[in-house]
Amino acid sequence: MGILDKHKVLEKNATLLLVFSFLVVTVGGIVEIAPLFYLENTIEEVEGVRPYSPLELTGRDIYIREGCYVCHSQMIRPMRDEVERYGHYSLAAESMYDHPFQWGSKRTGPDLARVGGRYSDEWHVDHLRNPQSVVPASVMPKYGFLEDKLIEGEYVQDLMKTHALVGVPYTDEMIENAAADFKVQADPWGDYDGLVERYPGAQVRNFDGQPGISEADALIAYLQMLGTLVDFSTFEPVASR
Ligand code: HEC
Repeated sequence: MGILDKHKVLEKNATLLLVFSFLVVTVGGIVEIAPLFYLENTIEEVEGVRPYSPLELTGRDIYIREGCYVCHSQMIRPMRDEVERYGHYSLAAESMYDHPFQWGSKRTGPDLARVGGRYSDEWHVDHLRNPQSVVPASVMPKYGFLEDKLIEGEYVQDLMKTHALVGVPYTDEMIENAAADFKVQADPWGDYDGLVERYPGAQVRNFDGQPGISEADALIAYLQMLGTLVDFSTFEPVASR
């Protein structure tokens, strides 16, 4: 009996086919999944990636609350058209402290993974207030109310503790200084040395240009940080090292 004839036996017996299909899927599954349990880490560590500062983390929460992810992805795929438009493709490490991750699945607007530094803070203020004022054909809704809502950061310490609970390496020092770090990041005249030490590369500015810390300050601080933590002029993927 040839191999094809043997296979015919399988094809003609539903129960036998089911049993063998199950075996094949089981073996395949084990081969794919088992090694993951023996790896210490499935994400390659990359220099520069750090937990979000209190102000950035608050901005990220506002980003999620307002459903920005419904129209914006944060994941640049390693394909030429994407890389030419948005910049270096996204690394797993760049979203390792995102709970939940913001990769998104819909791009009504552009990918935002590397939007940090692409526009000025003033541009963001104008754009959030009235997207059509800077991009006439935009279908993005207006978010001007964010700059009117002043926030004090009274919940940010709890937010950081929650993120620490799911594995973000916030130190005791970071959590202790949460409220102070939150405020000083939006105050260029404050003493922000400790903040920058704890969160290298943190940008310190009055993001919305108005007195007081608003939700727009937090959101813009978050947007201006996106994609800026890794220095791609020195980064080399593991495979090419
Ligand atoms: C209904 C879909 C929609 C929602 C919701 C939405 N956007 Fe947009 N966004 C767009 C579109 C479309 C564009 C492109 C036109 C423009 O720049 O306004 C855009 C552009 C942008 C840009 C400029 C990106 C670039 O590279 O030019 C930023 C930044 C941005 N959005 C941030 C946000 C933030 C933050 C939120 C949530 C507060 C948000 N968007 C919610 C549709 C949306």
